[in-house]
Amino acid sequence: MKDPLVKTQLFRFVDVLPVLVTDRQKLQHLLEYLSRPPSVESWPGLLSLVSGLLRLPLFRQLLMRLSDRQVRQMGNLFIVGRNATEALPKVLDLRSSGVGFTLDILGEAVVSDEESHHYQSQYEDLIDQLGNESLNWTEVQPVDFSDLGPVPKVNVSLKLSAFDALLDPMATDSSVERLKARLIPVLRLAMQRGVFINFDMEQFSLNSLTRKVFRQLILMPEFKSYRHFGIVCQAYLRSAEEEVREWIQLATERGTPFTIRLVKGAYWDYETIIAEQNDWESPVFSEKWESDQAFESCARLLLGSYPKIEMAAGSHNVRSLSYCLALAEELKLPRNSFEIQMLYGMSGSFKDAILRRKLRLREYCPLGEMLPGLSYLVRRLLENTANDSFLRQSFMDRKAMELLLRRPGWHLERQKEEKKKERKNGKDLKSL
Ligand code: 2OP
Repeated sequence: MKDPLVKTQLFRFVDVLPVLVTDRQKLQHLLEYLSRPPSVESWPGLLSLVSGLLRLPLFRQLLMRLSDRQVRQMGNLFIVGRNATEALPKVLDLRSSGVGFTLDILGEAVVSDEESHHYQSQYEDLIDQLGNESLNWTEVQPVDFSDLGPVPKVNVSLKLSAFDALLDPMATDSSVERLKARLIPVLRLAMQRGVFINFDMEQFSLNSLTRKVFRQLILMPEFKSYRHFGIVCQAYLRSAEEEVREWIQLATERGTPFTIRLVKGAYWDYETIIAEQNDWESPVFSEKWESDQAFESCARLLLGSYPKIEMAAGSHNVRSLSYCLALAEELKLPRNSFEIQMLYGMSGSFKDAILRRKLRLREYCPLGEMLPGLSYLVRRLLENTANDSFLRQSFMDRKAMELLLRRPGWHLERQKEEKKKERKNGKDLKSL
């Protein structure tokens, strides 16, 4: 995974795998992606080796079975179940270990009205079914109780691109109207069943639309005093701090708190590539430490605004999370005034550390089939294999905790100090 070309070719294969039906198709694609194209001179040894082995019948069988199993295992690792029936026992297990959930029905960027209707009704069924069943669930400490009162046991995350096939940032008004028409029945039902609804944030082109829809909906008289709505803020956006200030302003205007899930953002590669392709200034920071730094500034603003807004810190980075905990202590906020969120399949041993501190922890649990879940899975693969990923550094590279806990941007301070030293040495030499 250290070799970008190996990574790209494997991602290309993973990307098409769910639509390949026969072994012949799978083999053909594997060979195409892994063999050296005639126009390329140097090709990663690993890929040449595997494509060579694939030409031998004995290895072919083995490798094909292995690749199938690997991708399926990856799906099982990150996806909580193929449907609500499969997902339910898993999320109840989470609850019995003290962890809450937010369910997301896999699927985004729909291409037809029929498909978006399908998502809308799937969400409505989920909210209806779990909302009713949850009446019999026992309460779990600490996740079901915030400092402001009880927290819904059922929490659902939506991606707006699954709700309309014609979303177009250039036609904001009509996109907003269509989305509202789809979402009003969903929010209404959620309110009746006492379910929490979170709006996920996707690629930057949908950012302004998503915020507009959320703002307009939660200010509607029928939704204005419901506390259990939330939206995401992606700290990797250069505009993140400005967004947070706008949310605080809105919360003041609304009078009832809502939740901001603060994350770094999962579409970094996409945004960077699209911006480069179009020669636009990228909406996201180019360096990882800049996003880490923005996450901390946004957390400071959000926790500082409590109880106007409730914050959920969505991260697997121990430095970012520790910063939030220290900040909450500094601001003398109760331990249950904010939530920590992690992704299903990625919280690992951090989970126990958080629970031991009696903090509210929720896992983001996607449910659905591999094919609509593919973009989600690829985002997880990108995250887990990025060289500067905290997860990779902490578990695979085994960097010392001290290094991982350093303040984002520490290297700039060191550079400054080194320059100062150099200047001083220069002066000392002159005076000699
Ligand atoms: C994603 O879909 C977790 O919402 C985030 O990548």
